[in-house]
Amino acid sequence: MNGQVRGVQLARLLGQWHALPGRRRSPDYAALAGSVRGLLADGRLPLGVRLPAERELAEALRISRTTVTAAYRQLRETGHLASRRGAGSWTMLPGNHRVASTGLWTPLDDREMLDLGVAALAAPPQLLSAARAATEDLPRYLGGAGYHPTGIIELREAVADAYTARGLPTSADQIMVTSGTQHALDLVLRLALAPGGTVLVESPTYPNALAALAGRRARITTHGLAADAGWEPDLLLGSLRQTRPKLAYLIPEFQNPTGHLMPASLRERVVAAAHAVCTDLIIDESFVDLSMDGTEVPPPVATYDRHSRVVSIGGMSKPYWGGLRIGWVRASAPQVQRLAAVRVGVDMASPVLDQLVAVHLLADAEDIVADRRVQLAVQRDALLGALAHRLPEWRVTVPRGGVTLWAELDGPVSSALARAAEEVGVRLAPGPRFGLDGTMERFLRLPFTLPAADLVEAVGRIAAIRYDLDRAGRQRWSEPAVIA
Ligand SMILES: Cc1ncc(COP(=O)(O)O)c(C=O)c1O
Repeated sequence: MNGQVRGVQLARLLGQWHALPGRRRSPDYAALAGSVRGLLADGRLPLGVRLPAERELAEALRISRTTVTAAYRQLRETGHLASRRGAGSWTMLPGNHRVASTGLWTPLDDREMLDLGVAALAAPPQLLSAARAATEDLPRYLGGAGYHPTGIIELREAVADAYTARGLPTSADQIMVTSGTQHALDLVLRLALAPGGTVLVESPTYPNALAALAGRRARITTHGLAADAGWEPDLLLGSLRQTRPKLAYLIPEFQNPTGHLMPASLRERVVAAAHAVCTDLIIDESFVDLSMDGTEVPPPVATYDRHSRVVSIGGMSKPYWGGLRIGWVRASAPQVQRLAAVRVGVDMASPVLDQLVAVHLLADAEDIVADRRVQLAVQRDALLGALAHRLPEWRVTVPRGGVTLWAELDGPVSSALARAAEEVGVRLAPGPRFGLDGTMERFLRLPFTLPAADLVEAVGRIAAIRYDLDRAGRQRWSEPAVIA
């Protein structure tokens, strides 16, 4: 079970349920049941959550109890609710349907395929000169054994300086270099989470984080993000207080996949709530450098931390290049030492040469990141333009940074669309990959990391198949794909 939703919380999630567009003569109970189904399908209401008692919901919605009773009955009939006398009613999907939303798939180097499954840019032109400069630095390290479990000092200093420049004073002994942000997450989980521990994540969220959590046999609870507005402060804080998870994993800057940016006020409140219930926060800052349209990024979440509750993770993959496999953890110095001890049982240390390349790239950060932001803004606008032109029924909230947008489709067709798209040479990451248990079928993540012309071409191909979907037979996946 995934916890419980109170009457006032569900009422807030349901919003204007009685006045939804498309509702004509349906009775109130059917409209209410339909709205609950919609929340479930979008992952805003988790599966396995206990709904409020009928009387409580009726009071919160200011409607009669018989309407709620009838709505719950209909939800049971359609397979969206399981009830046990005396124990309550839990959300589910018809047939207890569950779709794996995690799993490691092998990469496919298919140059003909327009790959919208991976949200990462090709390397910047400065990478080659950084690599050459790194080889010249290498002799300084060749006299030693080359194992640096927390990373080479030059890189730790560069990363610490970047945090300090963001307003969060940081010393090199608070930084541990890892082989990518994913590795950072895995190490932190190994240190902080016993098997079966509870972790709160956003829904939708980054699929490989779910894979890492599955690897630790975590029990996951979710906070559903609103497609247009992102986090709902009272619900997020309420979930923390109610579930008291061991950990919460959040992506506050240009969240993957929705692109939302968490405001400063909520950052502060989340840290205070986490402290009150002894929850540790893992803050994934993968996209923090990639703001657009002059959007100011609020202070790092760790700025509000007085009790070493916040561990920040980040890396080079999004602003620079995923192929470098350089990431990091920012934590207290003792936590870094404990992480290094865990790491010795995993991979010992990161490659020295790659770390030196990262040092050179970070020395040139201002120029490289400025170019990336311009490039991403151009590509995002090309994607938005193509969507408005070819798929005008899809709804998108314009992301002010990051590399992805989260499109709300004109029906629950995301997986079917992804299957059909493979046939026309476009790889997509369908909505359910970003949720739990097969929800999110009305959404699709679209990264704008490919060149503008490729994005326009991809949208054209998707639009061409969208309207044939209902008539097409069941297609099969041709090859597995990596989602990043
Ligand atoms: C939110 C988030 N965290 C972590 C990662 C993994 O990053 P890395 O390539 O540094 O391991 C990604 C990559 O897509 C991501 O989007």
